[in-house]
Amino acid sequence: MEAQGLFVVGTDSGVGKTIITGGLAGALRQQGVDVGVMKPISTGAVEERGRRTSTDALFLKKASKVEDPLEAICPLCLLAPTAPILAASMENLDIHLGSLKDAYDGLAAEHDFMLVEGIGGLLTPLTERTFLADLVRMLNLPLLVVTRRDGGTVNHTLLTIRYAQLVGVEVAGLIINNVRPRATDLAARTNPDLLRQLASVPVFGVIPYSGKISVERGEIGDVVELLWDCAAALHESVYMGPV
Ligand SMILES: Nc1ncnc2c1ncn2[C@@H]1O[C@H](COP(=O)(O)OP(=O)(O)OP(=O)(O)O)[C@@H](O)[C@H]1O
Ligand SMILES: [Mg+2]
Repeated sequence: MEAQGLFVVGTDSGVGKTIITGGLAGALRQQGVDVGVMKPISTGAVEERGRRTSTDALFLKKASKVEDPLEAICPLCLLAPTAPILAASMENLDIHLGSLKDAYDGLAAEHDFMLVEGIGGLLTPLTERTFLADLVRMLNLPLLVVTRRDGGTVNHTLLTIRYAQLVGVEVAGLIINNVRPRATDLAARTNPDLLRQLASVPVFGVIPYSGKISVERGEIGDVVELLWDCAAALHESVYMGPV
């Protein structure tokens, strides 16, 4: 598969999309790929030097070391920490997919490959008629699905993959993430193999929990090292451009 980038979607909120996207971008850049990062829509915005931005955009910029301005990385930062459709209506805004596509095209023109972090899952509502999956289709990027390791993840992962395939979105593969320190119960131990068996797409890696990383505190810790092998596998299977 040769793609211009990947759209990173979660099976849910809080599964580790930002950590995975930032770590992959940092590792790919050190492996010689000119990667750009983007978080087209965020909610729960924070202030940075008098401007609105998001903790996700700050983490992505820090982990990847891109020089792009935060406004280009996250063009739509909504204040309320809730679903984007509600956060937008609380500011009397409508989310325009066309504007997000223009912002993406502008940033993508500066890079060879793009890693775009979504918001929530594929059926996160953006407007009364559109969902995150519509933005994915508009950007025409294959999906990288980030999923938890714990119990319940097989159902959520298969739902995400099968819905994507149903609406014609290509799924490049999965990354399984440990969102908690000690996932040693039986479900957590057995889920990676079950997902490899049932997912019908490649599993690029299983990422351990690291106490040195925090998105909220802007601590990138060892995120690049943790994603190094996944980045190399992705590079081989998805990105075939000049290195
Ligand atoms: N492998 C990990 N090691 C340490 N902490 C992690 C790991 N994965 C996730 N976390 C922590 O779990 C929380 C959720 O991770 P993250 O913000 O990357 O998820 P997300 O899917 O991007 O969430 P959102 O839906 O809010 O964008 C964060 O506090 C993050 O620091
Ligand atoms: Mg995030």
